[in-house]
Amino acid sequence: MSETNTLVELNNVSVSFGKNDKKKTVLNGISFAIHRGEIVGLAGESGSGKSTIAKAILGMVPVESGSITLNTKAPQMVFQDPYSSLNPAKTIGWIMQEPLKLAPKRDPEALRPDAATRKARVAEMLKEVGLDESYMIHKPGELSGGQRQRICIGTALMTEPELLIADEPVSALDVTIQAQVLSLMQELHKKKNLAMLFISHDLRTMYHFCDRILILNGGHIIEEGTPDDLYRNPKEEYTKLLLKSAGIAKA
Ligand SMILES: Nc1ncnc2c1ncn2[C@@H]1O[C@H](COP(=O)(O)OP(=O)(O)OP(=O)(O)O)[C@@H](O)[C@H]1O
Ligand SMILES: [Mg+2]
Repeated sequence: MSETNTLVELNNVSVSFGKNDKKKTVLNGISFAIHRGEIVGLAGESGSGKSTIAKAILGMVPVESGSITLNTKAPQMVFQDPYSSLNPAKTIGWIMQEPLKLAPKRDPEALRPDAATRKARVAEMLKEVGLDESYMIHKPGELSGGQRQRICIGTALMTEPELLIADEPVSALDVTIQAQVLSLMQELHKKKNLAMLFISHDLRTMYHFCDRILILNGGHIIEEGTPDDLYRNPKEEYTKLLLKSAGIAKA
């Protein structure tokens, strides 16, 4: 794969929190890349540093050493909890227009779309995430969890990012709704050649969803591979343990 196909590259990234004797190193020499159109899964137990990797890529936590090279416009993020990630006081139309108002500040070359254009793009995006434009006038509190997560995904895609970081995007949803939201994400991935960092602790979901999976443990990526490689022939004990606890028997 050529260099230009690399959207983001982490090179020996370490992140610590706290100072002196309270210092805790959460990520220790993390290296991986995400290429155009690729879905990379990131798995590991709670507290292993998955969200910290997401935040480091987005510049929300400082990197202590190593480097993160972004080769694309700002990646967008979808969070686990669709209840707390939408402003309850605003309408869906307002929320989804917001990224279009903010984007030109970061990119002075880009023209800020006018109100009518923004509204039309929101209507279009609502359709793309499987909702109709009547949702524009509703507030988040009037929507189900699955509908809210569709709004979060749509909002994240308003600026047409090439890379989406999805941190446990379906973990807070009922199982049937999980499948619907995942299939929407798969559809958008194909349609837009959207690359994703898909963070999850559910190795079953990841098997079908991801092109490549990274296993994070103790601040390191201890193993990585295609789902077939990893699930059929896990090399590390920790990976075997994760597979076992997900109820995936070794083939
Ligand atoms: N801002 C912070 N200040 C101090 N410690 C932090 C901060 N953010 C994260 N940590 C610590 O870093 C470790 C990794 O946290 P992180 O949220 O990345 O884990 P995670 O793998 O996403 O877990 P989960 O699966 O529960 O979401 C945890 O021990 C956490 O307490
Ligand atoms: Mg997390």
